Amino acid sequence: MERLKLTEDGSHSLFNSQYNQHYHSVSGALKESRHIYMNLGLIPFLETSQEPLHVFEMGFGTGLNAFLTWQAAKHYSKQIYYTGVEAFPVALEEASKLNYETVTSESGLMQLHEAEWGVTHQMSEYFRFRKEHLTLQEFAADELFDVIYYDAFDPKAQPELWTEEILSKIAAQTRPGGVLVTYSSKGIVKRALAAVGFSVEKHKGPGKKWHVLRAVKI
Ligand SMILES: C[S@@+](CC[C@H](N)C(=O)[O-])C[C@H]1O[C@@H](n2cnc3c(N)ncnc32)[C@H](O)[C@@H]1O
Repeated sequence: MERLKLTEDGSHSLFNSQYNQHYHSVSGALKESRHIYMNLGLIPFLETSQEPLHVFEMGFGTGLNAFLTWQAAKHYSKQIYYTGVEAFPVALEEASKLNYETVTSESGLMQLHEAEWGVTHQMSEYFRFRKEHLTLQEFAADELFDVIYYDAFDPKAQPELWTEEILSKIAAQTRPGGVLVTYSSKGIVKRALAAVGFSVEKHKGPGKKWHVLRAVKI
């Protein structure tokens, strides 16, 4: 089955048949990543905070968020240390079909996919990159993060990634004042984030999506 999906803004996503889920909103993968993970999550820190900024992503997946993060580090000339976990890596051949270089007019996506797992790579002057081929449940951090991209499949598909238990582990890895951003604004997600020590804000979503969440660690 063809996994590659052209979303409404002209950028690609993938489909996961095990969970019956797309990796991004079909209304626009690039639009979603920019709106939620960049504009609500990363960019306010790049505009105001000390560097280096420590960024963590639940689900490296297609690499779109990591790729945009690298571009932002270059644009703002600020150091970013990115760490992503991924349980089911996208094959290199499939990654090479993604059109993120074309739609952003930037290069480097395949460098992220080809980078060795479990090793820290200085990809450029401002971007340090590490990805772990592990489940989130297995991952243990030895640093605190400023920004968390929480990009797991939907709570209906993977409820185990939205429990208070797993989110309390994420909360323990987040610096006070740090933020977690996610596309899901479901009640169970809001309640779980509040229960583990985040102050939860609802924001307007990209395109047709009503709401997304930005949660600040107290
Ligand atoms: C919604 S997709 C988003 C991926 C990525 N952020 C992107 O923009 O392509 C969710 C990702 O989480 C990964 N995943 C699923 N279960 C996981 C787990 N237990 N631990 C780590 N990654 C997991 C999936 O393989 C998939 O790549």
